Amino acid sequence: MADLFKTRVMAGKFRLLILLTLFIIVILARWIGNKAFTKHEMRYDPVTVMTNENPSSRSFFENVKSVVSPVVQTRPVVSSLAWQAMSVDRPGGVSLNQTQDVVLWRSIRKGEIPIYRVPVFTYTPKGNLVAIAEGRRISSKDFNPKIFEVRRSTDEGETWSYPQRIVDDGKSPIKRSSYIGTIFVDDTTATIFLMYVFCEFCPTRSLMLMNSTDDGITWGRPRNITDQVGKEYATHPSPGNGIQKKQEPAKGRLVVCGHGFYNGKGLVLLLSDDHGVTWRRGAFVRSQPFKMRLKKGAFDPDECQPVELPDGSIYIVVRNEKTYKKYHCKMIMRSFDGGETLPQNYTYLDQALIEPRITSGLWYHDETMFYSGPKHDTNRRNLYIRWSYDHGKTWTSEKRIWEEPASYSTLMMLPHDKRHLYILYERGHKTEIDEIALTKLKISSENDRNE
Ligand SMILES: *[C@@H]1O[C@H](CO)[C@@H](O)[C@H](O)[C@H]1NC(C)=O
Ligand SMILES: *[C@@H]1O[C@H](CO)[C@@H](O)[C@H](O)[C@H]1NC(C)=O
Ligand SMILES: *[C@@H]1O[C@H](CO)[C@@H](O)[C@H](O)[C@H]1NC(C)=O
Ligand SMILES: *[C@@H]1O[C@H](CO)[C@@H](O)[C@H](O)[C@H]1NC(C)=O
Repeated sequence: MADLFKTRVMAGKFRLLILLTLFIIVILARWIGNKAFTKHEMRYDPVTVMTNENPSSRSFFENVKSVVSPVVQTRPVVSSLAWQAMSVDRPGGVSLNQTQDVVLWRSIRKGEIPIYRVPVFTYTPKGNLVAIAEGRRISSKDFNPKIFEVRRSTDEGETWSYPQRIVDDGKSPIKRSSYIGTIFVDDTTATIFLMYVFCEFCPTRSLMLMNSTDDGITWGRPRNITDQVGKEYATHPSPGNGIQKKQEPAKGRLVVCGHGFYNGKGLVLLLSDDHGVTWRRGAFVRSQPFKMRLKKGAFDPDECQPVELPDGSIYIVVRNEKTYKKYHCKMIMRSFDGGETLPQNYTYLDQALIEPRITSGLWYHDETMFYSGPKHDTNRRNLYIRWSYDHGKTWTSEKRIWEEPASYSTLMMLPHDKRHLYILYERGHKTEIDEIALTKLKISSENDRNE
């Protein structure tokens, strides 16, 4: 009996020893890992900080000024002189005046769907408006089972159809749920698409694509395109708009920007050259480090919103999730080859666009680039539209849309109406997700007044 007791005590002590050793090994491994990390981060410097004094950012802008540029820019093609000459014709003096404000969804915080979040918004092939938002069951948490609801307006935002469910996770368990998602239009085939991810936190995510060929009235069954792009690139299509290239290179191509992968962070462009039938991966920018824990200050490009510029290049504003180098501002990326690559030397931090780590709206129209987001470095409030007449080099003008809590936003214009800009966004008095509202703004420019 006593012997048995002794052995038990011994076994206990032995186990303790093993546990202690294991513990020390883990600590050591983490320490070594962290050392390697820091070294790695120091070697790799993916982003320059844009300041006026920084010569590399100046040369960057001399390059991008070229509106008549060739397909892939590999060296400066426009001198600063040419740039100045061009700037004479630039428009200016655009102002925005609110003409309408309507709430499309309210988070009533009880019942079947207590919370509405993450709106996306597009024009339709027939010149109407379609808005889609997530209804979240149980609570406001991202991973809850959801519904997607569509609302349409055929009178430029005056009146809206009754919400219609197009996706419903039902009572599916937490985390096996759907997440919005990028909306985009193929103008050639008059088709509206919504790409979204199902089961974001599962080892195999499902990348889903659904469409409407009747201007957003009815939506077909979602198609699973995970195997087309490859499991490892099944990203979260970022909330906002995809684009269809209207200029060369790759005219007609559909481009969707996504962020994050199972077990990894970063940004990927998904491309389709056959009007949405097949998809493949284009540019892929990994976080630094990749597939490891990211600390504050790491390079972690997150939710992204692309626009096409007149030279056929793609300009992308990117959420800077880990405040790279401790800068609370957006990252900017560019592609000159239709989304195949996002060259590292055209990636920079734009200190003018401060952000509290959030998705933003971006719309390019007639030499004016509009941007929307909270003008605050840590809090989701104080939502502004800001605009640039020089392709994002300087942000000269701004209009405050909502001073109180406000969160995700998306910008849009109707192709036939060059006089109005729409912003659909989350806002509230108590919290930033009390409601999803649409504000319509009249665009007037000095040129109009001179006419
Ligand atoms: C960017 O890098 C490419 C090659 O990696 C080079 O050809 C090009 O000149 C660089 N551009 C600038 C503005 O540094
Ligand atoms: C827009 O609003 C500004 C001030 O908010 C005002 O000065 C301007 O006249 C307005 N423009 C139009 C076209 O209504
Ligand atoms: C989508 O396809 C992937 C890969 O074939 C598969 O693992 C996943 O279960 C599919 N998802 C759905 C919702 O059918
Ligand atoms: C559009 O949706 C329908 C119905 O699900 C599907 O049959 C068709 O393949 C889809 N088209 C594209 C281009 O995804």
